[in-house]
Amino acid sequence: MKRSEKELTTTYGSRYFAESVPKYVMPEDGMPARAAYQLIHDELNLDGNPALNLASFVTTWMEPEADKLIMESIDKNFVDNDEYPQTEKIHERVINMLARLFNAPKECHSVGTGTIGSSEAIMLGLLAHKWTWKKRRQAEGKPFGKPNIVMGADVHTVWEKFALYFDVELKLIPLERDTYTVTVDQVAEEIDENTICVGAVLGTTFTGQMDPINEINQLLIDIKKEKGWDIPIHVDGASGGFVAPFLYPDLEWDFKLQQVKSINVSGHKYGLVYPGVGWLIFRDKKDLPEELIFKVNYLGGLMPNYSLNFSKGSSTIIAQYYNFIRLGKSGYREIMENMIDNSKYLARKLEESGKFDVINKDIMFPLVTMSLKNSDFTVFHLSEKLRQKGWIIPAYTLPKNAEDVAVMRMVIKENFGREMVDMLLDDLIEAYHTLEEEDTEKEGFETGENPSLLY
Ligand SMILES: Cc1ncc(COP(=O)(O)O)c(C=O)c1O
Repeated sequence: MKRSEKELTTTYGSRYFAESVPKYVMPEDGMPARAAYQLIHDELNLDGNPALNLASFVTTWMEPEADKLIMESIDKNFVDNDEYPQTEKIHERVINMLARLFNAPKECHSVGTGTIGSSEAIMLGLLAHKWTWKKRRQAEGKPFGKPNIVMGADVHTVWEKFALYFDVELKLIPLERDTYTVTVDQVAEEIDENTICVGAVLGTTFTGQMDPINEINQLLIDIKKEKGWDIPIHVDGASGGFVAPFLYPDLEWDFKLQQVKSINVSGHKYGLVYPGVGWLIFRDKKDLPEELIFKVNYLGGLMPNYSLNFSKGSSTIIAQYYNFIRLGKSGYREIMENMIDNSKYLARKLEESGKFDVINKDIMFPLVTMSLKNSDFTVFHLSEKLRQKGWIIPAYTLPKNAEDVAVMRMVIKENFGREMVDMLLDDLIEAYHTLEEEDTEKEGFETGENPSLLY
């Protein structure tokens, strides 16, 4: 081809669309930007549609102004505090606002940090408690080789990951059938002088329910008086932390409770920001041991750093602040009310159909978990059938002691309005009838988990 002809060739007329794309070895030479863009863009069409993804809690829509701010800050490394001091100020404002939203007492000097998500925030929170416990034991001249952590099997997998990675004995309390959260009596049986922390969840990943945080707090206050063990609670508010303050301001789960020393929340869930941003807030700076804060000077200035990762983007932190000042408390409340109303509506219609049992009947958080009543097929079949229509709805079995209960979970997000709920209901019922008519003797789905779809 002559040069002038080459220049005239359209993207789809170029040779890159008559060859396979490089997959294993980096090519010697590149290709025009438009061809590279189009090839990757077209391939990504095979991904699911985020708007129909009810598996994930993670935000799939933001306002165009937020998108604009995100693009304007996408090139700023968050860790370069000295170079981007305003970004750091915005980060601090978000932490201050969250500490107050979570009712940190006035006399406390709360501290915190932005993270990649709740997982990093939980690991950092628990690490601080392990360290505090170890220092106290050392000071008392007591052994500090056998730390343990107590929590229900309703916790997210990251809690187990923490125990494994940071060498802490995991005291995982099995679930009670029909309860699906931990009970205070079970916690009382497990704690001892080596317990670094009790984990409690506000909005579990599996059923969207809440551990009895208030009762656990009272138990730990009593134990402190009786035995002198000062055991902190870390509240995993990954999803509930951005719902409860707006919908249930009187609910006692946060720093109003004496033993709650740290809270994590996912900005990218009901904080309404794209992935990945999470937040970790300590009730008081004494809850974060000084030794864990690294001070680096090679980026200019002296930067305090408490994180697992070093470099990361700034844009989601800025987007979080955008939401705070754009929506205010009333804006968040209105969105949460819509999501809860739509979740309740979905739950009611599912129950009325007579085909499903809603597990989280009192719907505190915007998700619906349900099992099948009587059918020859399973939720795994139903999930697969709905996938053919584009809906992404995970099916899974509940954790230990309730593993015979197979459920489907639908997370109702901001951009999932009543009309979408109605369309989902129509497709659910249609899929149900199709499966009833089909031969359901299928292999492979009977007991299988689908963990990759459970976030
Ligand atoms: C209760 C709970 N904790 C922790 C996590 C992990 O959060 P992230 O994905 O922000 O790391 C999740 C995720 O769904 C969750 O539901």
